Amino acid sequence: MRSAWVVLTGPVCSCIQLYTGLFFVAIFIAILRRRQPEIPQPAITPPPPATVPETSPPSSQQDDIAIDYHVPRLPYNEDTIVALISDIYHIYLQLNYIDPSEFVWAPLPDGHAINQTLCEELHLDPAVISLMKRLPYPLTPNLADDIPFMPLSRMFVYLQDDQIRAGRDPDRWGFEEPRLDFLLPHEIALCCETDQGIHIILDTKENTIRVWDFDDPPPEDDNGNDYRKLYPHHAPTYLASYINKLHSLEIIPIHWRGHRGLWDKHYTGMYPKIKKTLQEQYGWPYDFREAEWKAASKDTFEQLIHFG
Ligand SMILES: *[C@@H]1O[C@H](CO)[C@@H](O)[C@H](O)[C@H]1NC(C)=O
Repeated sequence: MRSAWVVLTGPVCSCIQLYTGLFFVAIFIAILRRRQPEIPQPAITPPPPATVPETSPPSSQQDDIAIDYHVPRLPYNEDTIVALISDIYHIYLQLNYIDPSEFVWAPLPDGHAINQTLCEELHLDPAVISLMKRLPYPLTPNLADDIPFMPLSRMFVYLQDDQIRAGRDPDRWGFEEPRLDFLLPHEIALCCETDQGIHIILDTKENTIRVWDFDDPPPEDDNGNDYRKLYPHHAPTYLASYINKLHSLEIIPIHWRGHRGLWDKHYTGMYPKIKKTLQEQYGWPYDFREAEWKAASKDTFEQLIHFG
């Protein structure tokens, strides 16, 4: 009998001990957790800036998560814009999309010889004239036609007077006399659509870029399209995100049989093969074998595109 009792109660006792032990451990942990300092929560809405008048623009449905998040916006910085656009050209050079003989960097220290008289006649803001002097350009308007700067869109070549006039009216100059006062004096068109594509209009006062898309034009008013109603992107962020797309090959510069294009995933079939080749065989972007790619790119495109 006795041994049976022990056999029965032994496990029961140790169970009770075990549960009691666990109970105290749990209490101990709970105390420890309460003693840990609270992690401060970020304020959901920061106080509005008191002294900086220029703030982020109001919302537009198409843009970022940060739609209604107003912050003081840094002023326009010409060096930043020049650096970002130069980065795009550097990438185009690395990937053998453009040849060094096809475009021109701004000469130091004074930049390109832009027609100052014409710019002043057009009442262009000094910031616009100064930027025109510092940007890299395709050598001629014909080359600009052939070498998209952004998908389906061409650069203006402000080295030439006609292009300075054209740039004042990026939407119409290809078809009719450009309206010379269409853009504001402190705005500059960086590129324009060809048959499709986008006009990119930089506002040097706001430090913003408006993207006028052929497929989704701005609303019309009495004077034509009211592109100022388009969402004003923070200019450096817009250009930097384009550079990111080139780094990630979301957009691939293609130079094949004399054709230039900026391809994306809509070029089904070819696009993933070229992307994989550039990344895995040539190490784009961080182990990039530039010389090898330059030597092989034409044949590689030939094989991938022509023979699939
Ligand atoms: C600059 O533009 C003005 C005004 O259109 C023109 O008269 C002048 O010939 C141009 N200068 C040069 C060097 O092309």
